Amino acid sequence: MNKNVDISNKTKVLNFLISENRYISGTTLSNSLGISRQAIFKIIKQLKDEGLEILSIPQKGYQLKNIDKNIIIPSYIEYLLLENSIFSKCLFFKEIDSTQSEAKKHARKNAKEGLIVIANSQSNGRGRRNRKWENSDDSNLMFSLLLRPQIPTTHIQILNLCVGIVIKKVLRNIYGINATLKWPNDILVNGKKIAGILSEIAGDCDQIYYALCGIGINVNSQEKDFPIELQKTATSMRLITGEFYSKSQVLINLLKVMGKYLVKLNEQDGIIKITEEYKSECDTIGKMVEVIDDSNRYIGEAIEVRDNGELCVLTQDKTLINFSAADVVHLRLAR
Ligand code: BTN
Repeated sequence: MNKNVDISNKTKVLNFLISENRYISGTTLSNSLGISRQAIFKIIKQLKDEGLEILSIPQKGYQLKNIDKNIIIPSYIEYLLLENSIFSKCLFFKEIDSTQSEAKKHARKNAKEGLIVIANSQSNGRGRRNRKWENSDDSNLMFSLLLRPQIPTTHIQILNLCVGIVIKKVLRNIYGINATLKWPNDILVNGKKIAGILSEIAGDCDQIYYALCGIGINVNSQEKDFPIELQKTATSMRLITGEFYSKSQVLINLLKVMGKYLVKLNEQDGIIKITEEYKSECDTIGKMVEVIDDSNRYIGEAIEVRDNGELCVLTQDKTLINFSAADVVHLRLAR
C-alpha cells in the first residue's frame, strides 16, 4: 500500500521555501522546480490564501514567515505528510455538510487512497446509528479518510477497531491523556466521550472498493461549547488537561501512527495482530454490559472480541450472542 508519490507543484514550492528559509527569487523557484514564473506566482497566491504568511519583495522574491499551527493549512499538512506511507492529499473546508459525504464523492471518482477531507464546521455531520455530529465553531477536529484496505469485506470492523487503537495511543503517548476504548469505537476519558469513529464502506462480498473513516475528536471545546444534552457525557482534550492544542499537530500525529497501523493491517497476519492488540486495549472485555442492538436490549458479560471484530456477550440466560454493530453501556466489572 505504498503511496504513489505524486507531489504537487504547490507542495514543491512550499518545501523549497521551508528548507531555504530566506528570500528566494521567482526565477530561482521557477528554474529549480521547472515551473513557469507565472505558475509560481499563482501558487504563491494560493499558499497565501490558505493562510501562509509569505512576504514578497520586488527584486528579492518570496520568504515564508511564521506558520500558524492553530489553523488548518492544507498545503502545510501535505508538506508534513511527505514521508507518510499512506496519507498525502488534504482538502480543507471552512464549512461543509459532512466530510464523510465529500470524501465519498472523491472515492466514487476513483480518488487515490490516502485522501484527507477536513472541515472546521459541519452542518450535517453524521455519527453512528444515525446520530448527528455537528460543530459550528472550529474548536474540534473533524475529518474523513479515504482508504482502500486489502482486507475481506467480512472483516471491515477491524478497520474501525484499528483506528480506535490509534486514537487511544496518540492521546495517551503524545498528550498524556488517559483514554480508554469502549467497543466498537468510542474513545472515552473518565467515562466521557472524547472521540468517535464512523466507518462506511462500498464493496461486494469479495472486495472492499473503498472505506471512509470519519473521525471526530474533541480537541479544544469547552463545556459550554457542547449542546446541553452532551455536556455530561462529552469531554475534550482541553477540558482534560486545561491546555489549548494545535489541531493540525493533533491531526499529523494521528496520521503518522495511523499510516503505520494501516500498513500492518494489510500484512498477511495483520488482522489477527490488530485484533489481539485491540483485545488487550479494549475496556469492554470482562465488563457487564448492556447492549442495544436496533430495538433489542441485552445484559450480559462481554467475553471477547472475535477476529472479525464482533463482540461476544454471554447473556444472563447463558446464551452467547455475537454483535457486529451495537451500542454498548459499561455497567460494572463482571467478576
Ligand atoms: C460516532 O457516532 O461516535 C462517530 C462520529 C463520527 C463523526 C465524524 S466527524 C468527521 C466525519 N464526518 C461526519 O459526518 N462524521 C464523521
